[in-house]
Amino acid sequence: MQTIGHGEEYSGSIINPPISAMSAHIHKAGFSTRAIHYGYNPQDHQGALSPPIFQTSTFAFPTAEYGAACFAGEESGHFYTRISNPTLALLEARLAALENAEAAVVFGSGMGAISATCWTLLEPGDELIADLTLYGCTHALFEHGLKKFGIKITSIDLTNPSALEAAIGPRTRMVYFETPANPNMRLIDIAAVGEIAHRHGVTVVVDSTYCSPYLQQPLLLGADIVVHSATKYINGHGDVTAGVVATSAELAAGIRLKGLKDFTGAVLSPGDAHLILRGLKTLAVRMDRHCDNAEAVAVRLAEHPAVRQVYYPGLEGDPYHALSRRQMRRFGAMIAFELHGGIEAGRRFINALNIFTRAVSLGDTESLVQHPASMTHSTYTAEERKRAMIADGLVRLSIGLEDRDDLLNDIEDALSAMGR
Ligand SMILES: Cc1ncc(COP(=O)(O)O)c(C=O)c1O
Repeated sequence: MQTIGHGEEYSGSIINPPISAMSAHIHKAGFSTRAIHYGYNPQDHQGALSPPIFQTSTFAFPTAEYGAACFAGEESGHFYTRISNPTLALLEARLAALENAEAAVVFGSGMGAISATCWTLLEPGDELIADLTLYGCTHALFEHGLKKFGIKITSIDLTNPSALEAAIGPRTRMVYFETPANPNMRLIDIAAVGEIAHRHGVTVVVDSTYCSPYLQQPLLLGADIVVHSATKYINGHGDVTAGVVATSAELAAGIRLKGLKDFTGAVLSPGDAHLILRGLKTLAVRMDRHCDNAEAVAVRLAEHPAVRQVYYPGLEGDPYHALSRRQMRRFGAMIAFELHGGIEAGRRFINALNIFTRAVSLGDTESLVQHPASMTHSTYTAEERKRAMIADGLVRLSIGLEDRDDLLNDIEDALSAMGR
């Protein structure tokens, strides 16, 4: 057994002690049944329907020998919350069950999850191939963080997977992309990228934040690692920042013991894990309602004469319509669009909305609107944004759970007000 001391690999399962025996028969249940029950039996906790919050930073050792055995990896047990905690372990088990992963590791933010994964798996001299469009802070991590420590970043258009074959070199270790991409809704064929990457021994990491595990399960399509900002749909209520990595037990153990424990310390608080466990229970019903609303909004926008272009895979004319039908359960609830009047018209539209909230983030109950070029993607230079196909006039909507007609009327009214 290897120790969890600095620089050591960990290959067992003791970091997450076995959770409720109930898991076994829930494992094969439907998505919502797993989201509600997986890994927890009230009878193990004095009948408490809602899992307890283990609000503790550290755990008592009965003896010095036991503590030493925990650190040596010889005892299964929680001993410090930055490494593991029962509330976090339940959330991890549930998220792994929903992503069809062997294991998951949760973090205090999506950026914590992404940076811990990269710092764990990449070495100086390695190459990471990324898609052209990335969330602004992921772009900044790659361009300003990883590069600084000797990792080569190559950006290519992964919507054309064959470009990957030519780009892969002897030091390529990882290919990283979002699908759909934030903010311009480009979709990437996970299976096609996975097939090429795996022929060259390259690890495929997919940021599936826009979908949540309900709409897309990248591991089933051939990805090796899926990351999410759990701040978004997974929690769903705009009151927590969190992240998750779901992958093989072996990779998850390494990411926990290096990326989480030592390199980022980006631990999630047990109280926040509890809120996410609560949010997860309604993930499927929320996502269906998000998608119903978004499909209606996208059609309404596409029909409006003030709108130049709508980017939403649910529209039949969208270039990613066929791919979205293959790899997503539904089309999601993120929409990007451009107005004929460009950035100025976009600003007037954003300011004229009443029900949509002017805010970054996404996946909340509230519908949100923001301007990527000056907000979420302002980490890009103007030149970089052009290459990433993030138009200055692009407006991004996160469609929430309000009544559909109220959202449609808000958009109609704002588009009419702009013209006045
Ligand atoms: C696609 C995507 N990935 C990652 C992140 C980072 O997540 P967090 O804000 O939870 O750190 C975000 C945040 O907006 C995002 O949209």
